[in-house]
Amino acid sequence: MKYINLFVKTTILLIFMLQTVCFSAEDYRIKEELASSQPKIPLKNAMGDEAYNKAMNSGEYYYVGNTKCRLCHRKFFLGRKKDPHDFAMESLIASGHEENPRCLTCHSTGHGVKSGFTSIKKTPRLSNVQCEGCHGPGNVHIRLIKEKKRWGFLTGTDKPKRLKKMCQSCHTKRWDRSYHDLKKAYDKYRNADPNSKVKK
Ligand code: HEC
Ligand code: HEC
Ligand code: HEC
Ligand code: HEC
Repeated sequence: MKYINLFVKTTILLIFMLQTVCFSAEDYRIKEELASSQPKIPLKNAMGDEAYNKAMNSGEYYYVGNTKCRLCHRKFFLGRKKDPHDFAMESLIASGHEENPRCLTCHSTGHGVKSGFTSIKKTPRLSNVQCEGCHGPGNVHIRLIKEKKRWGFLTGTDKPKRLKKMCQSCHTKRWDRSYHDLKKAYDKYRNADPNSKVKK
């Protein structure tokens, strides 16, 4: 009886220790992030300070939310509904950091920019890393398209270097598990559904 009791106690202790180890292994990046300085706005990092300040101070660019994109890019909109970028806010909610500005920089659309995400309550339509989280504010693009012109994004497909730098602005050394080969990962996002095996 004595031995069984000891066995049960040891097992419980072991399970407890294992759990602690596993949780801290999962959490160490969050701890590191919390101890670092506020990360730079991805769009600012991708464009460089000068170009960013010029564009954003002009007041010409603002975020519109992905429901606007759905009107003309239905396939992309639906394809991205399965992509983890569209669930980035859920990761913050699960870890209790959905109001932490440090985390929102990379888990929402345009946080830190005037027209960008502020909170789930105030700007639910800009939750997660949406279309404009990679391509930048979309209002000018929509205006140009309506005038039968094209382009208009600050990090559009006509600026692949900047768009690549956008990936790297969020996928930093600390947050580096999503891909090993940037070029390969980047190319996948030409497809409406980046995780589909079939080419568009
Ligand atoms: C009124 C219809 C319309 C809306 C709304 C619209 N687009 Fe487009 N978009 C187009 C068309 C048409 C093209 C193709 C232009 C071309 O290649 O000549 C295009 C091209 C693009 C491209 C590739 C060319 C580039 O400039 O990089 C991207 C990226 C894009 N759209 C993203 C978006 C996003 C993000 C939104 C929402 C903020 C959006 N679009 C809203 C019609 C629209
Ligand atoms: C605004 C920040 C941000 C930008 C910009 C960004 N990502 Fe991400 N990415 C994330 C976050 C956050 C996640 C994880 C979402 C989650 O699980 O909560 C992620 C997840 C991923 C994944 C994992 C997908 C999977 O199927 O598991 C890939 C691949 C990826 N990103 C590639 C890219 C590429 C390529 C670019 C540039 C074209 C890019 N990302 C731009 C923040 C960003
Ligand atoms: C510099 C951008 C950036 C910041 C800041 C950031 N994250 Fe992330 N986060 C990512 C990326 C990118 C991923 C996708 C996983 C990867 O590539 O390592 C991710 C994934 C996650 C995940 C999914 C589980 C995992 O570990 O893959 C959680 C949870 C998470 N982040 C929580 C947070 C919290 C909490 C904060 C704030 C303390 C935070 N993140 C700040 C970019 C960021
Ligand atoms: C993770 C970053 C990321 C997100 C989020 C994202 N895109 Fe893109 N998108 C890219 C990349 C990378 C390319 C390829 C750029 C190139 O051709 O150099 C691309 C290309 C495109 C193109 C042009 C496709 C072609 O035929 O060349 C369109 C249109 C587009 N995206 C629309 C959207 C829309 C609409 C959304 C939201 C529903 C969206 N994107 C979300 C990264 C992203």
